[in-house]
Amino acid sequence: MTARAATKPRVLSGIQPSGILHLGNYFGAIRQHIALQDRHPGQALYFIADYHALTTLRNPEALRANVFESAVTYLALGLDPARALLFRQSDVPEVTELAWMLATVTGMGLLERAHSYKDKLANGITPTVGLFFYPVLMAADIIAYDATLVPVGKDQLQHVEIAQDMVTHFNEAYGPQDPVLVRPEPLPARAAVVPGLDGRKMSKSYGNTLPLFESGKKLRKLVGQVVTDSTPLGEPLPFATCNVVALLRLFCDPAELAQLETWYREGRRDGAPFGYGHAKMLLADKIEQLFAPARARREHFLTAEGRAEVEAVLARAAIAARALAQQTLERCRRACGLR
Ligand code: ADP
Ligand code: TRP
Repeated sequence: MTARAATKPRVLSGIQPSGILHLGNYFGAIRQHIALQDRHPGQALYFIADYHALTTLRNPEALRANVFESAVTYLALGLDPARALLFRQSDVPEVTELAWMLATVTGMGLLERAHSYKDKLANGITPTVGLFFYPVLMAADIIAYDATLVPVGKDQLQHVEIAQDMVTHFNEAYGPQDPVLVRPEPLPARAAVVPGLDGRKMSKSYGNTLPLFESGKKLRKLVGQVVTDSTPLGEPLPFATCNVVALLRLFCDPAELAQLETWYREGRRDGAPFGYGHAKMLLADKIEQLFAPARARREHFLTAEGRAEVEAVLARAAIAARALAQQTLERCRRACGLR
């Protein structure tokens, strides 16, 4: 009945099915998720949080499309099904049962203190019980797979701490000598906040995003919308405060940045005037180059054959993930006296 012996660390994270993902999502989350599959091969689990999405999305077609697009994005960007599991949250219904068990050892106060819930209320969202319950389901997601490491953005740290509290309460209630559940640790994202077109945090809720898979004229038009000051062409440009530079930093090595800084300071490149338009073209080229292989893989995943491959990856991973969750649930049921 004991919790999984602490052998290898197990990484787990959930991905909101938001549809088209942006540069902020890539540099703030996806890139780390994919890197972790190399560091913890066979022990990285990622799922698309479609149960959670029901708290905000009530359009079945859109939900299905967003889940699929999120899966395609991860696979195109290099998630390797041989090293990491990528599955749909709802393919493991055991998490909802575990959420119920955890809820019975969770004080109301713990959830009432959740920042993201309070923020949503403050923003005028009418709360449903599901929205209030969101952290319990998230804790169940983590605990069901005996995850030990949970890579998350800063906004999700408190939710992982809530999961830790639930593990403590459950183990105190049902396994004081012989812990039933494994305690997870958050792995906070180190990445800086990626600015959007308007200089605020890039976020789909601000409509200021740069998507990962745009190219050609459309991409250049979008990049053209990055807000800058009105320094005329050929004059020295402010390097430290420029939004285009903040975005270019994500793509450039130190030598390239030093070169760019010289062009900004002088307002000239190779004797010719250098302005924001040129910097934006560099940025568009960098985006196009970095994501070119992923863009091609994505195109493949959107064909009929590719779609079937994506579905097969999700289905296979769900079987493996579900087997893990079933073991945990069996321990929990026995511990509570449900068996
Ligand atoms: P959005 O703000 O567009 O709704 P989400 O909240 O769905 O994005 O974020 C998904 C993941 O991407 C989270 O881990 C979050 O921390 C990360 N992320 C989102 N936007 C940014 C950003 N501008 N900079 C860094 N990371 C980000
Ligand atoms: N709430 C997370 C987000 O908004 C997604 C999520 C759901 C998650 N369940 C999780 C993240 C479990 C980590 C672990 O980004």
